[in-house]
Amino acid sequence: MPRKVNYGVDYDDDDDYDDYDEYDYGYEVEENVETPSEEETINHGVWRCSICTYDNDATLSACDICGVLRSPLVNNSTYDGKKTAPFKFDVPSPDDVVSNGLRSSKLGLKANIFDSKSSKVSSSVVGKNEAAKVQLSTKRSGSSYDSTAKDKHNRLNEIISSKNLEVDALSSSRNSDNSSASMPKGRIDIVDESIVADNLRSSVKRSSLMPKEIHNMVDDSSSSRNGGEVHSLTSNVKNMSLAAKSGHSKDTSAGRANSYAQYKPEEWMLPEKAEDSLTQLNLAIVGHVDSGKSTLSGRLLHLLGRISQKEMHKYEKESKLQGKGSFAYAWALDESAEERERGITMTVAVAYFDSKRYHVVVLDSPGHKDFVPNMITGATQADAAILVVDASIGSFEAGMDGAKGQTREHAQLIRSFGVDQIIVAVNKMDTVEYSKNRFDFLKSQLWTFLRSCGFKDSSVSWIPLSVVENQNLVAAPSDVRLSWYHGPYLLDAIDSFQPPTRDCSKPLLIPICDVIRSPSQGQVSACGKLEAGAVRSGSKVLVMPSANIATVRSLERGSQACTIARAGDNVAVNLHGIDGNLVLAGGVLCHPDFPVAIAKHLELKVLVLDGATPILIGSQLEFHIHHAKEAARVAKISSLLDSKTGKVTKKAPRCIVAKQSAVVEVILHEPVCAEEFSKCKALGRVFLRTLGRTVAVGIVTRIV
Ligand code: GTP
Ligand code: MG
Repeated sequence: MPRKVNYGVDYDDDDDYDDYDEYDYGYEVEENVETPSEEETINHGVWRCSICTYDNDATLSACDICGVLRSPLVNNSTYDGKKTAPFKFDVPSPDDVVSNGLRSSKLGLKANIFDSKSSKVSSSVVGKNEAAKVQLSTKRSGSSYDSTAKDKHNRLNEIISSKNLEVDALSSSRNSDNSSASMPKGRIDIVDESIVADNLRSSVKRSSLMPKEIHNMVDDSSSSRNGGEVHSLTSNVKNMSLAAKSGHSKDTSAGRANSYAQYKPEEWMLPEKAEDSLTQLNLAIVGHVDSGKSTLSGRLLHLLGRISQKEMHKYEKESKLQGKGSFAYAWALDESAEERERGITMTVAVAYFDSKRYHVVVLDSPGHKDFVPNMITGATQADAAILVVDASIGSFEAGMDGAKGQTREHAQLIRSFGVDQIIVAVNKMDTVEYSKNRFDFLKSQLWTFLRSCGFKDSSVSWIPLSVVENQNLVAAPSDVRLSWYHGPYLLDAIDSFQPPTRDCSKPLLIPICDVIRSPSQGQVSACGKLEAGAVRSGSKVLVMPSANIATVRSLERGSQACTIARAGDNVAVNLHGIDGNLVLAGGVLCHPDFPVAIAKHLELKVLVLDGATPILIGSQLEFHIHHAKEAARVAKISSLLDSKTGKVTKKAPRCIVAKQSAVVEVILHEPVCAEEFSKCKALGRVFLRTLGRTVAVGIVTRIV
């Protein structure tokens, strides 16, 4: 179903293209590669960026303005690892990986003992523990791992076009045996791309092998900055989708598209009208760190009877003992010792409650910037979202900060996942005396931004509330200071969401977000949201990318056994007849006759987000698609597109800057399950990240 969008706030295209032209004229990849000495040193202690000509401090390894490397390819053969790493990349910390493994098993346990109140969605995490990352890379250099990494790197190089000088040079610098021990604390050098790629996958495949490390948190050193103007995200995504539909794709999946059309669902797959009175609503709770998402989720669960008084007493007592009394409600969702100790959510927690109209699946996301990849994993399943903002002075402003604030990033991501109805929960109103002025101020600030993301005014509800003082959650506010507010309370607003549309009559498709293994019983369960089709006990499913057939032994929905699950349901599918190691998070369960594509080389239409660093040919990025994540390299920038019409404005540009749309080709380190967006939205939406920030959103237009 095409999404209805508006174009949001217009911005001046001309300005953008002026910017672009400046980049174009100043930039020659080949020159950089062949004559690194051309980097201009203006005077002692300063170097001039070859792209934007900004004079940077000599201590900087990348341009402070556009993020381009100072001398990315300096002395390929004599790369000195002691020099500042030229480019950096996030990898999962070993600690993330360990907790990932633990949580996978906890999920099943939790679902049973806690009556499904909450469970954790673990994911392949991009690091929270920067110091640990460096240790990881240090330990690995020189080990047998290293040779594996080199093999992989060589394989990748075979694919890489020889004209891509930048990547060749990266490869050379990697082979020059530089020690990762000399890398700056906090980040791993991108030259070790195979290690990066392996780390990304390792969180799924080798979780139990990783050492548990320390928990230092290092500030994100992202050089992305706030470009000021907001930008119509969805108008561009819409143009992308229109163009994707207009026959841009090649024949790779034409046969499959035909067979999709031929698919005839069996009768049991279609929902019976009288069957379930409550529709399932997957509700993502997103927003900047510490805005009160987990406290809100915990309080709602308590008020709606999903957390008993006894359990609540236990949380209160335990949190007080640890000096974290204010986190008592959040403890219902933040279950791990580390989350509780640090007072932040790190993985998405899943919980359930029923409203009048919906069986609500709460996806409580982490707000901390280091865990955006986890937030993506959970929120990508959402039908609707609550964007929680903190009304207290300074906190709202921090969330709106273009470079560091997650209010903006989460809102952009949620919209690009296809979520078009949201509630903005303006929380902590008690800290501003329930001031109408403050509420109106926040609303006006955020509204402009949300419109620019493509949210329609009519699809956004604004609710002032205080979780701590239980104002406006499941009943109208009792505090007189909120008497100026006459809208719905939170639970009412949730019931006002339009029911999501479901693709029950299409072939089965379940992107796997988590895997629970119980080796002693020889059981493996794949968890995720049914994006299309239906499944029941006894059904045969194809497990991708390993392409093995398994049989569904049983199903759990909302941690209760069920016999049939249909599109929209969030389920755990217990499989038999397959080696558990072949079922991986990031994979897909599909209909055996309608296998999803597996791809390594993809053509994308992307929109570079406001404030992001430019994307160049050869840029190394973190590629996210449904629950899969891979290291990717930009192999080609085919064309720049007009953001409004989607028409090609320039062929083969050398780079794309913030707010520009373009067609690019990326080569992934390992293949992922993917589909063209025009055919399957859930498997056709992508996100590109680097340096801990989302730099672009887009869609798959072609599997090359
Ligand atoms: P992350 O998951 O780490 O992003 O944080 P979060 O958004 O889940 O915030 P959390 O629920 O952990 O709450 C953070 C702090 O805000 C806790 O100390 C809460 O007690 C406090 N808090 C939450 N809601 C309110 C509120 O309505 N008023 C006040 N004064 N404090 C609140
Ligand atoms: Mg939280």
